[in-house]
Amino acid sequence: MKSNASNLNLPHVFPSAKEPNFLERRINRHYRDRVQELWGGRNLLHGMKPDADSVQLMSNDYLAISTHPDIRNSQSEVLLSEGGCMLMSAVFLHGDSPQQRFEQRLANFMGAERGILCQSGWCANTGLIQSIADAQTPVYIDMLAHMSLWEGAHSARAEAVMFHHNDLNHLERQLLKHGPGVIVVDSVYSTNGSLCPLQGIVNLAEAHGCVLVVDESHSLGTHGNHGEGLVSYLGLEDRVHFRTASLAKAFSGRAGFITCSERFGNYFAFESNPAIFSSTLLPHEIEGLNATLTVIQTEGWRREKLHANAEYLRFHISALGYNLNGSESQIISLESGTERQTIKLKDALESRGIFGSAFFAPATPKNRAIIRFSVNSSLTESELDRIVRVCADIRNEVDLENWPSTRRNRGAKSPAGLLVSAEHKEAALA
Ligand SMILES: Cc1ncc(COP(=O)(O)O)c(C=O)c1O
Repeated sequence: MKSNASNLNLPHVFPSAKEPNFLERRINRHYRDRVQELWGGRNLLHGMKPDADSVQLMSNDYLAISTHPDIRNSQSEVLLSEGGCMLMSAVFLHGDSPQQRFEQRLANFMGAERGILCQSGWCANTGLIQSIADAQTPVYIDMLAHMSLWEGAHSARAEAVMFHHNDLNHLERQLLKHGPGVIVVDSVYSTNGSLCPLQGIVNLAEAHGCVLVVDESHSLGTHGNHGEGLVSYLGLEDRVHFRTASLAKAFSGRAGFITCSERFGNYFAFESNPAIFSSTLLPHEIEGLNATLTVIQTEGWRREKLHANAEYLRFHISALGYNLNGSESQIISLESGTERQTIKLKDALESRGIFGSAFFAPATPKNRAIIRFSVNSSLTESELDRIVRVCADIRNEVDLENWPSTRRNRGAKSPAGLLVSAEHKEAALA
């Protein structure tokens, strides 16, 4: 007899097993202290639903290519083709494969000897740090570097030595105190959009015998003459040991990448837990990334438009009195401070059709919550104007005057290293 939903013997759904006290207490703390007390019973991440008329600034699809026909067609051709796929970890791949051809193509594009495709930016960062550091190797991390880099230090059982954001003097003091190790920075910081003073960091890494890792998640595809990233743009390819990137930003896919030497690539396959113990990407995903690279290389107008849009917004929003915390990129954040103030800001923006992403601890330092705008190249002039107009209109409603970030802007003493000095900005762009 043919089965259908009505004659299938669907299993009874049971309530989950009761959590032991230690877990129940922990979950209760979340609901009581955070959801009820701080957020007034609602989920800070979820507000109103955007509609067709809304301006959406949540996606990191900076070049607006996630629906590009060339990318979609290349993926669907592979999905509809006869060939199957091997479900296994990438460490077993050898000989000529689409994955290895793509790795080499992207590595060449970035001016690197070798590239390793990973399942995500998270896997690239945790797997890399875990395979280059250990309990005897300090890992120096900018306080605003992405959580995956901290997690990498943690899984290497290495000591994570924090330095103030973009503060070369503080990094040098830490290096003198703890000795040679791994220095880890983002080229463009994902919460405040500031650029790393890469030239100064490279000099310090060399002077102190350190390995240097630069996470280019927010500059690959968007920075450089053809999107090859900030390290290449600054001509530092042969002075940075490893570059990592999430390909879920400008590359609009689901993958991560590491540039390295040929010798390191072969070693990595035997050392990195995510590479060994987690399966590799599927063929249509690799083909999609391959097509994306061509789009990124050939459609330079998207980068120009992106930077023009971002510059317009940075200029006009900061002129309204918002402290953009040194943003020099397509990431623009309004730092409302406490989580309660952030709910107010989110509501004010969303009720006027502007949707950004809320970030708060642990994604930001405590009480430095933000609404982040990820600018993209498809925003029209009228959308840009609407964003600025809304930012102007809500200033009283969100109490902008009294945000700690606004007070810092007025010249009150800022917490060490949280603002980027003009000198650092120049160094990064030199
Ligand atoms: C700087 C940075 N590195 C790494 C990641 C992790 O990338 P993925 O989302 O591909 O795991 C992100 C994403 O949030 C990021 O912003």
